[in-house]
Amino acid sequence: MKLVIGNDHAAVEMKNELKAYLEEKGHEVINVGTDTKESFDYAISALKAAKMVANNEVEGGILICGTGVGISLAANKVKGIRCAACSEPVTARLTKQHNNANMIAFGERIVGMEEAKAIVDAWMNAEFEGGRHERRVNQIMEIEKTQDLK
Ligand code: RB5
Repeated sequence: MKLVIGNDHAAVEMKNELKAYLEEKGHEVINVGTDTKESFDYAISALKAAKMVANNEVEGGILICGTGVGISLAANKVKGIRCAACSEPVTARLTKQHNNANMIAFGERIVGMEEAKAIVDAWMNAEFEGGRHERRVNQIMEIEKTQDLK
């Protein structure tokens, strides 16, 4: 799978370890996050990563900040993005199965390294179930387009 990964200063170590973990498994991982611990605003890497996902340059995106919240909020402002902030693997699996989340986010200050790997694995190994969930995902995207629902 071709993926993008982005982060702020709070998540450099987790980003590096996850990138290596995914590459060992044969995935291609493009890093658009910061590589230093100098203060770095998470919206910058959220936007870069989200644009790549929205333009279908990659199949999905992983975002990490201190909590996973700020960086997911920023990514969700890009049209076409459904980024779920998840702190455990069950939600990560369900957000692919039910919400067709094309990005996932979590926080280096919240989850441990093994939990982060489990979150990424759960999201990557799951498949969108479609059916009633497709109607609901379409409603999310309709709100994005029209700020309304039919
Ligand atoms: C940075 O200190 C921190 O606010 C950021 O990483 C993130 O947790 C925001 O949501």
